[in-house]
Amino acid sequence: MFNLFKSLFGGKGESFRPLNDYSDLIVDMHSHLIPGIDDGAKTMDDSIAMLRQFEALGYKKVITTPHIVTGGYDNTPEIITKGRDKVRKAIAANGVNLQFDAAAEYYADESMLPKIEKSDILTIGNNYVLIEFSFLAKTRVLSEVMYKLQAAGYKIILAHPERYPYMYGSDLEEYKSLCDKNVFLQLNILSLQGKYGAGAKAFAEKMIDANLISFLATDLHNIRQMEMVKEGLNIKHLNKLIDSGKLLNKTLL
Ligand SMILES: [Fe+2]
Repeated sequence: MFNLFKSLFGGKGESFRPLNDYSDLIVDMHSHLIPGIDDGAKTMDDSIAMLRQFEALGYKKVITTPHIVTGGYDNTPEIITKGRDKVRKAIAANGVNLQFDAAAEYYADESMLPKIEKSDILTIGNNYVLIEFSFLAKTRVLSEVMYKLQAAGYKIILAHPERYPYMYGSDLEEYKSLCDKNVFLQLNILSLQGKYGAGAKAFAEKMIDANLISFLATDLHNIRQMEMVKEGLNIKHLNKLIDSGKLLNKTLL
C-alpha cells in the first residue's frame, strides 16, 4: 500500500496518507498482555481480545513486555516465561494468527545492576533491552545502569522518551546525545493522540521531526486503548514516522 502510494505520487512521504492498518510495522514490541502480573490485561479473555485486534490491524508478531519494577511489580523471567506459555496456548486454542513472545519493561534503578551482572535479563530480538525511567526525576543511577547494560553487550531501547517532562528542558540535546551513544528511542502511538498530555504530544512530534525515533509501539494495557491506537492511523505525525524508513520494528520479526 505504502509503495503504491509512493509510486503514484512520487513524493518522499511528505503528503498526508492515512494508513489502512499497521502492517508496515509488522511487530509491536511494547505492551502489557500477560494476565494478572502487572497493570495490563486482567484476564486471559482480555489478552485474547487485544491480540485479535493486533491481528486485525495487520501485525504479524507481538512481543509483550510486562513491567519489572522492584517493590511494585516483582516479576522475574520465570514468571514472565510461564505467562507467555499460557498466552501462547490460548492463542492456539482461539485460532489467533500471530507470533507471540515476551520480554520485559525494566524500571531502570539500582535493582537492575545485579541482574545485569548475572545476565538475568529478558531481551527483545537481537539483545535489545527495554527500559523506562522514573516519570518524576532523573535518578542518580541511571547513567550507571545504561553504562553497565551496554558494557555487557545489551542494546538499550528507551520506552516512551516523550513521557519524561524533566527531559524537555534541554530541548532535544539529551536525547540526541543518547542516540549518539546508540540508545534507541521508542515512541508510544498514544502519545500522538495526547493520552499523556499536551507536553508529551508536542515533544513526540518534535522527536519525529528530528528523526530520533527507532521504534513505534502501542504500550497497550487494555482494550479501550486499542480504540485510540486505531484512531492513530489518521494522525499526520504517525504517518510521517512510519514513512521515515528509520523504524526498526520489522527487524524483530
Ligand atoms: Fe509500558
